[in-house]
Amino acid sequence: MRTTVVGAENTSPIRWGLRQVAGHPRTSSSALVGSAAVFWFGLHTMLWAVGIAVLAGVSWRLLDKPTFDRFAGRLLRAWWRRWWTYQRPWLRIMTACNLTTTDHKGETLVPRVTGVRCTWSWDTVSVRMAKGQAPEDFEQAIERLANAFRARSTNVRLVKPGKLALDFQRREPFDEMIIPLSPLAESTSAVDLRRLPVGMDEYGRDFTLNLLQRDLHVLLGGATGAGKGSYMWALLRSLAPLIRAGLVRLWVIDPKGGQEFGMGRAMYHAFADNDADGLALMQTYVKTLDERKLELGRAGVRTFTPSRETPLELLICDELAAMTAFASRWITVAFAPLMSKALTQYRSVGGRIIAATQEPTKDNVPMRGLFPTKIALRLDSASYVDMCLGEGMRDMGALADKIPEILAGVAYAKRDGRREPLRVRAPYSRDEDIAELVEFCTSVGTVTELRRDVTAPAEGQERDEPADVYAIDFEALEVDDYDTDQDQTDEVDVIEHFEGDEDDEEIA
Ligand SMILES: Nc1ncnc2c1ncn2[C@@H]1O[C@H](COP(=O)(O)OP(=O)(O)OP(=O)(O)O)[C@@H](O)[C@H]1O
Ligand SMILES: [Mg+2]
Repeated sequence: MRTTVVGAENTSPIRWGLRQVAGHPRTSSSALVGSAAVFWFGLHTMLWAVGIAVLAGVSWRLLDKPTFDRFAGRLLRAWWRRWWTYQRPWLRIMTACNLTTTDHKGETLVPRVTGVRCTWSWDTVSVRMAKGQAPEDFEQAIERLANAFRARSTNVRLVKPGKLALDFQRREPFDEMIIPLSPLAESTSAVDLRRLPVGMDEYGRDFTLNLLQRDLHVLLGGATGAGKGSYMWALLRSLAPLIRAGLVRLWVIDPKGGQEFGMGRAMYHAFADNDADGLALMQTYVKTLDERKLELGRAGVRTFTPSRETPLELLICDELAAMTAFASRWITVAFAPLMSKALTQYRSVGGRIIAATQEPTKDNVPMRGLFPTKIALRLDSASYVDMCLGEGMRDMGALADKIPEILAGVAYAKRDGRREPLRVRAPYSRDEDIAELVEFCTSVGTVTELRRDVTAPAEGQERDEPADVYAIDFEALEVDDYDTDQDQTDEVDVIEHFEGDEDDEEIA
């Protein structure tokens, strides 16, 4: 039996060579430029130039691994892995894993690697299936493929008819990495609303939220036990001095009877532990921010700066679906439009929302597209990933459904304006840590008293707003000036690294 590859039949060596050159424009143009440079400048000069470039690259990697990886490392790794890790043993492994077929002439048809993309933890190998193959053939061989390519885990996705993506997990940085809780900053000046640490990314950098500009509202999607709570508590911890000083007010809806957020009730401005109270709280929140919008609008104020008079109003809603889908109809019907309004209208008056849901479907979270930042923790189904993060994010490497249960708190974060998902993990806040946080935030008595007057409105009836929403006693308060002028954001637009994208067609 002769061995060939898909489409390789009856190909002359010259034709084969030309197709290789045309099929790998980056590799062939680099070779061409390299040869021209050697011809032009001489071998000696070129060796020096290459040496200096290698030295610069190594120094860059040593000094700043994440940016090196983002702009150069992934490309180099994808190129190297394509040829060395995948292409070199490909025929052997495909044959050993029984992933070849035979045509009518008795020739062996082998699936082709058409591209490799790398993130820090996962490689994605694009594969054109051989004639007569189905994705199920690869699914059945998944464990064998993982072993053959020495991957921690493997996943198969059908990208389009005839084309698959095989994902190989090469490393798991969060196995080793300890994510510490951020220390409670004593002074408000130590808190930058543009860089609130809520965890670490897979490179070991701080994962921060920018509540002033970029991460105005955050949606967390994660199955039960995935660790959604840890992101919310980490955010509250980062905000602690501002909460204590009355510069941030917390409105918390925990419809599951206060199981997640009940411990912190002393530091909230308003708290609801059931769906009916949750609706009442939402109505008050919207009314408060509507009034502020009018007030500031009439005063001609266009930029919002959190102050004691106009604090940042952070609404936290754990298990959003309990308010938008699973509650009585009169609650869901009233709640969803209020939530959508809050997500769209209060950017410039300090309204911010962080919400969590177990199933980020359209029915459960109809307003999910209004959250500029989405974080997908372990999800029950592959389809939930794109529902939570946005279309195409799973193909971009956000394999949230592949996060193992033992890695609670690991997630993929997607921000508006950034194409790639970022793999992150939050620290876990134990009960003692939450107790410490609550004590800290309530220690100088400046947190707005918890409004216990949030009671359920009668069915179908709107609640009245309690009179004194800004009744905060700041008498004994000493706060540092809060400076919001420094913009330390380091995010840059992302380029997609996909070695071999151009090589989509069958090439012999
Ligand atoms: N960031 C984390 N790091 C390590 N372990 C964590 C982390 N977050 C959560 N865990 C572990 O997972 C368990 C469940 O976490 P948590 O209750 O926050 O999940 P959840 O997503 O809020 O679930 P539910 O939807 O049921 O409320 C915790 O008891 C803890 O043991
Ligand atoms: Mg929870």
